[in-house]
Amino acid sequence: MRSYVTTPIYYVNAAPHIGHAHTSIMADILKRNRQAAGFETKMTTGCDEHGQKNQAAAIASGLSASDYLDMRSSEFRRLFDTLNVGYDFFVRTSRPFHMEQVALIEQRLMDAGLIVKKQYTGIYCAGCEQFKKPSDLDEHGRCPDHPTLIPEELDELNYFFKIEPFRQRLIDHVNDNPEFISPPSFRSQLLNMLSDPLEDLCISRPVRRVSLGVRLPFDDEYVTYVWFDALINYLTNLGWPKPGYELWWDTAEHLIGKDILKTHGVYWPIMLMALGEKPPKQLSVHGHWLGTGGLKMSKTLGNVVDPFEVVSLLGSDALRYYLARNMRSDSDSMISIELIRQTYNSELGNRIGNLFSRAGKFAKARFEDRIPARGDLTADDERVRLAALDAARGFAKPFEMYELPRVTQAVVTACDMLNNYFAEQAPWDLIKKPETAPRCATVIYVTLDALRLVLEGVRQIIPTAADKALATLGCPFEASVGTPWVPQLDRLPAGREMVEIESLFPRVDA
Ligand code: ME8
Ligand code: MG
Repeated sequence: MRSYVTTPIYYVNAAPHIGHAHTSIMADILKRNRQAAGFETKMTTGCDEHGQKNQAAAIASGLSASDYLDMRSSEFRRLFDTLNVGYDFFVRTSRPFHMEQVALIEQRLMDAGLIVKKQYTGIYCAGCEQFKKPSDLDEHGRCPDHPTLIPEELDELNYFFKIEPFRQRLIDHVNDNPEFISPPSFRSQLLNMLSDPLEDLCISRPVRRVSLGVRLPFDDEYVTYVWFDALINYLTNLGWPKPGYELWWDTAEHLIGKDILKTHGVYWPIMLMALGEKPPKQLSVHGHWLGTGGLKMSKTLGNVVDPFEVVSLLGSDALRYYLARNMRSDSDSMISIELIRQTYNSELGNRIGNLFSRAGKFAKARFEDRIPARGDLTADDERVRLAALDAARGFAKPFEMYELPRVTQAVVTACDMLNNYFAEQAPWDLIKKPETAPRCATVIYVTLDALRLVLEGVRQIIPTAADKALATLGCPFEASVGTPWVPQLDRLPAGREMVEIESLFPRVDA
């Protein structure tokens, strides 16, 4: 089994923010999840380096375009490395192989009679790098995602891709493949975008206005429209059209924010159909993180939370956890450093970290540095063990991005039960009398074994701390292609000596 998970490739017009961190972290979580299920995986993320707004940013920086792109791309790459995002391929659309394929595809569509040249008049949002209809704008004539920009009026001779001939096939595809859009609530939005005839898609920009891009192979006074170029990365990452790409392409899951549903749900599948390729297997859509002012956090607006700052204050797991726990597909959510800090202290610190240190240190102090063996189990033991098993099972089968809050909630529930259990069983009392000491050993074993099981699952979200804790317990997690991970109780090696217990999530005060 294979899994190809992609993120959008981000514009490099400004420094990366939480929104970019979000989709790339989600892709990494899905990759780890598929790996645990025994899949062979490929995950890509990266940068979209062409188009009008990148060009404007390069000019404003005073650097040459290529120096500017190198500088920003390495900043995005460093962010993903810092966040433990295990991309297999880091996309840059300035890569020659990618640019060559874009031009070849345009030539193919031209030869197939699908491209026409004509005069175009319309409104353009440089923030979205997209043409807009009057109905896409708010009451002030502004783009809702970029309200500080005044949309431009364009009137130019350009090349257009005829997409209307594919509309009905796409509608049929959406209707026949319920898993095409996840969560399903976005299906009707997409079908709405397909309810009227589709205007030809402008795929060029005159070089005198936008020069950062791929020259049209049939007219070198034009460069390719940035979206037409960028979407093709999903194929060129696989070495398309060299045979072998289709093994991965058949499994493609594109993770996207809802801001780019139209480009991925309408233009991209139609481009693929025109090339004789299948649409991606799935578009997995998430809502937006809102920054100050309750507006979508955006580089263009500047109301951003800096992910590097979050990591230096709280560590990468804190950010990964907050995003997975609080992301929503059907609505937007607030985020701030303060909210992340509170969740870090209360959920990672108090629920997982404290229990791990208390039970671990207890074992070291009272059972000669070793994990004690358990005796017979009580109904209370069985109850917490089942909750841990249930939480772990949520991570053992492939899940979709929108299911993450639910999967994470099971971890919180299991850890709450374990904390209550530990307090009620009071091992510090049990150890005092010889007749209850064996029961104490069981309570410690049950607690640490249940925690181990939860950590084997939640490591998909918080790999740094979970792997450290699993190593301390002498149970490093191993996944291999073809061998699905099966969550099991009683895998903690009794009698094993434990190394020093380090705090997993040291408290951070405001
Ligand atoms: O659209 N909340 O790039 P982009 C959640 N280059 N996610 C957010 C977000 C927010 N506030 N802001 C950004 C482009 N994102 C194109 C994509 S793909 C072939 C080309 C994430 O820099 C989310 O994934 O504007 C969103 O769809 C993407 O970044 C847009 O990034
Ligand atoms: Mg954007």
